[in-house]
Amino acid sequence: MSFQEPHRDCDRCPRLRNFLLEKRKELPSYHNAPVPSFGDPKAKLLIVGLAPGMHGANQTGRPFTGDWAGDLLYAALEEYGFTNGTYGGTADDGLTLDGALITNAVRCVPPQNKPVGAECAACRPFLTDQIESLNTVKAILCLGKISHDNTVRAMGLKLSAYPFGHHKIHELQDSKRLYSSYHCSRYNTNTKRLTEEMFYKVFADVRKYIDS
Ligand code: URA
Repeated sequence: MSFQEPHRDCDRCPRLRNFLLEKRKELPSYHNAPVPSFGDPKAKLLIVGLAPGMHGANQTGRPFTGDWAGDLLYAALEEYGFTNGTYGGTADDGLTLDGALITNAVRCVPPQNKPVGAECAACRPFLTDQIESLNTVKAILCLGKISHDNTVRAMGLKLSAYPFGHHKIHELQDSKRLYSSYHCSRYNTNTKRLTEEMFYKVFADVRKYIDS
């Protein structure tokens, strides 16, 4: 795995950089820096989230770790055989991923969980580099439309040819597939836009494809 992660003091996005500097003063025990990818360097599945949650990944320093979205995501990963150990909601829970790698379209926590377009664009080269470097990946699973659109752009593809939809599957070059799901956020699950069943069905398909 030889892709680049943003530097702790990355300053590509002035708004996010200032936000992190404020949070370093306010919440000194938090990670408060770009959150590096987590998982298996020989991943067959690359999962792309949106951006670190303030009290989840931005606190613990591991994608999706310590918040609602992570409870659902790591449970699905366990159910479909992508974990070793037990998810405990902290970066030192001893969990490792088997065949999966988790990253985010935007690596720094954004105010109100909403990165702006310029921030997505500024962070995109990291995603491009990662996708190009991971030569074992068979499936990319994007969580939410922003993640999906960023991933399509990161691969240099046209959004009109690869539209987002829940449980939509697009064929890519070299027998790779792009899967998308509604984001496993608390809001989406509380409003039943995404149920656990819907989420697990996507994972079931991904698992089947990876093993085929
Ligand atoms: N935590 C992450 O790391 N990414 C998300 O998209 C949501 C929560």
